[in-house]
Amino acid sequence: MTTSVESWWRNGVFYQVYPRSFQDSNADGVGDLNGIVQRLPYLKALGVDAVWLSPIFPSPMADFGYDIADYIGIDPLFGTMQDFDALTEAVHTSGLKIILDLVPNHTSDRHPWFIESRSSRNNSKRDWYVWHEPGADGGPPNNWLSEFGGSAWEYDAATRQYYYHAFLPQQPDLNWRNPAVRQAIHDVMRFWLHKGVDGFRVDVIWHLIKDAEFRDNPPNPDYREGQPPHQMVLPLHTTDQVEVHGVIAQMRRVVDEFDGRVLIGEIYLPLERLVTYYGRDDRAEAHLPFNFALLSAPWNARAIEKIIGDYEAALPAGAWPNWVLGNHDRPRVASRVGKEQARVAAMLLLTLRGTPTLYYGDEIGMHQVAIAPDQVRDPFEKNVPGIGVGRDGCRTPMQWSAAPNAGFSTTTPWLPLPEDFLHENVANLEADAGSILNLYKALIDLRKKWPQLVSGDYTPIAADGSLLLYRRQGQGKSIAIALNLGEEPVSIASDAAGLSGEILLSTSLDRAGEKIDGALDLRGNEGVMIGPPS
Ligand code: GLC
Repeated sequence: MTTSVESWWRNGVFYQVYPRSFQDSNADGVGDLNGIVQRLPYLKALGVDAVWLSPIFPSPMADFGYDIADYIGIDPLFGTMQDFDALTEAVHTSGLKIILDLVPNHTSDRHPWFIESRSSRNNSKRDWYVWHEPGADGGPPNNWLSEFGGSAWEYDAATRQYYYHAFLPQQPDLNWRNPAVRQAIHDVMRFWLHKGVDGFRVDVIWHLIKDAEFRDNPPNPDYREGQPPHQMVLPLHTTDQVEVHGVIAQMRRVVDEFDGRVLIGEIYLPLERLVTYYGRDDRAEAHLPFNFALLSAPWNARAIEKIIGDYEAALPAGAWPNWVLGNHDRPRVASRVGKEQARVAAMLLLTLRGTPTLYYGDEIGMHQVAIAPDQVRDPFEKNVPGIGVGRDGCRTPMQWSAAPNAGFSTTTPWLPLPEDFLHENVANLEADAGSILNLYKALIDLRKKWPQLVSGDYTPIAADGSLLLYRRQGQGKSIAIALNLGEEPVSIASDAAGLSGEILLSTSLDRAGEKIDGALDLRGNEGVMIGPPS
């Protein structure tokens, strides 16, 4: 068995809360910190161990909080600093951990640092952001593109230079080559760590450093019509720069000044690049560079098997794996893979080696909600309409009950609810023994009972067609996982895969205790876990 140092972030299950959409406690249609406190018993009963909150800091909300105007405050929309302290205490009293979103790549254009920076070329904070002379034709300095559409350069008429923004013009990028910027963000980290937060999820951490020579990005030969326009060039000189690793290692040292905290990095890169963000033995970086491979994986058994194998093989010695099925930027898993397969996906997520992160609402099978054009809030969709990049559909209010506004709020929520919330809600699914919610609970429960599922070795078992088969083993015990990623039933002939024991759990929640002796019949869209006979 792979030995692992005991720690909560290795053994636990993480849960992402999008605060705007979890629970509104003050009838303004937007979720808030007191609302999260009200719902802690739910999270506790679900069995998760750590809660990561998307940004809650003062913000003009151009990108719904990912444009921060004050790193060490709480936006009044979400509550007060007292509310935050009460939330932290309540989370800890419940035996859970709290992770904040750190957004160090850019601030809001309303942040006092940027207001100073743009005030004159001689301002002491001028070099806190990425300013550049116009190009030879007076246009942008180079061809770098914003992820949210258009050039990544915004002209500032008053000082006749351009500033760089990887996202919205209202989100100017900080200059991480400047030691004063590093110091300032390190102090922000210490502020929250002193308050008792258990770690950070660091926004777009692979973006922090850009090419010192500002070279043009090369064209993307694979670009196809219908893809977001920023993908027309390859981000060769704007992301994943070699110097970023030193910056992250410094952040890690700040986190390590405090006991038992975790540093998670948001990184969309191919696996072989992703794993470099663990750092090296002598220069640790992120504890958990988020592994988003499942977010874009084709949903078939061979593709998933290859991803797991490639990831396991790429991990450096001692690196702890992690898996993510959904987040606030990507379409809901239930819509990506379908309602039936969402259960199989849950069993996959919670039986893979490493730390799983759940996205709020996925445990009740929430699907991507259709957003009418006049209800679009996401700036990405507004800037790049009609090609399906909108993120509002995965950010809709949590569906708690069949009460008005799904029990999320007493007033109209900031994003619409789908009609099916009347059935697809926590109260209803809790009462339904066979529901996806009860499946999630059972899966999380089994992870707590069987350490093999957390840290046991992962061993693939040869399979074909829609069948994904693997074993998790350690301490002399083994659990086999058989997932049918297709709609048709699948039979495994006796001893073909060496399966024997007893079903611990089926995704249909109706086969526990069934004895298996070599042969196994799986229904369409079914997954089972087989443990030692009791
Ligand atoms: C990250 C966030 C996303 C945000 C972007 C810019 O990708 O997850 O929601 O829009 O960074 O901050």
